[in-house]
Amino acid sequence: MALTISREDYVMHRIHSITGVLPVGYYMVQHLALNTFSIASPEKFNSVIEFFEGMPKHFLLAMEIAMIWVPLAFHAAYGLLIINRAKNNYFTTKYKWSENRMFFLQRASGVAIFFFLIYHVISTTVLKYASGNAEIIKYDAWAAKLHNPLLLLIYMVGILSASYHLGYGLWNFCIRWGITVTEAAQQRIQKISGVVFIAVTLMGWVALAGFFMHKPLGTPVAPVSTEQAPNTNVGLTR
Ligand code: HEM
Ligand code: HEM
Repeated sequence: MALTISREDYVMHRIHSITGVLPVGYYMVQHLALNTFSIASPEKFNSVIEFFEGMPKHFLLAMEIAMIWVPLAFHAAYGLLIINRAKNNYFTTKYKWSENRMFFLQRASGVAIFFFLIYHVISTTVLKYASGNAEIIKYDAWAAKLHNPLLLLIYMVGILSASYHLGYGLWNFCIRWGITVTEAAQQRIQKISGVVFIAVTLMGWVALAGFFMHKPLGTPVAPVSTEQAPNTNVGLTR
């Protein structure tokens, strides 16, 4: 019985580990890279959104479910289970070794991303599908949203947490899969992980800065009622 549970844990842990890198880690990096189009111009940022919106709806939804939602939901749910089970010794040991601290921070960042993503996905994709209005995820809506200091802070911290989680995760991933075996190799990868952490954070923050650099296009974010419009015109011609 004990053997069955630990074997099951082993397989699930491996799937959790892989999903963190592919597709979730890969998705986040390309997602933030595409979001940096905000620094080019509102039109360029919107053209990325329109590219995806131009895909057949069933294809886009199937791609989102299979390549993002299911792997992310699994990684998040199993990750929370690991966090809940793990004995955290950062606060209980006398010596706060840096590896202990990094371990604690990776788990803390997992919890932070969990709440950040609930807010982020509901206020973007879910709201877009519920309202049938893609304007809510375009440049003007982001510029308005991020001029609220609290929301800007939430996004800055969300990006920082996710980048740290990915950077440290890559280091752990290489050890788990036997890619780095020697102490020297592990130290080299630790440096690369640090670079990933800083580079991905900066990429996300640059994307945020893009929403402060241009004048919004002035497109209404709320959908215009098609019933109201003819009546108003009639009133104006009288
Ligand atoms: C600069 C900050 C960010 C911006 C401007 C941004 C923008 C967007 C937009 C416009 C969407 C809606 C896509 C659609 O429905 O077509 C979206 C969805 C999403 N974002 Fe972000 N995002 C940011 C940061 C992040 C971060 C840090 C993560 C990961 C931790 C993330 C993960 C997601 C996920 C999982 C979705 C749902 C994907 C889907 O269903 O298509 N985003 N984001
Ligand atoms: C949504 C909330 C999330 C939670 C609760 C979570 C939780 C966790 C936990 C607990 C671990 C450590 C597993 C272990 O050491 O055994 C982990 C690893 C990892 N996570 Fe996440 N995670 C989340 C989101 C993300 C996101 C958005 C990414 C990508 C940017 C990601 C990428 C990774 C990677 C690459 C690993 C390393 C895999 C390994 O240890 O082999 N995670 N996650």
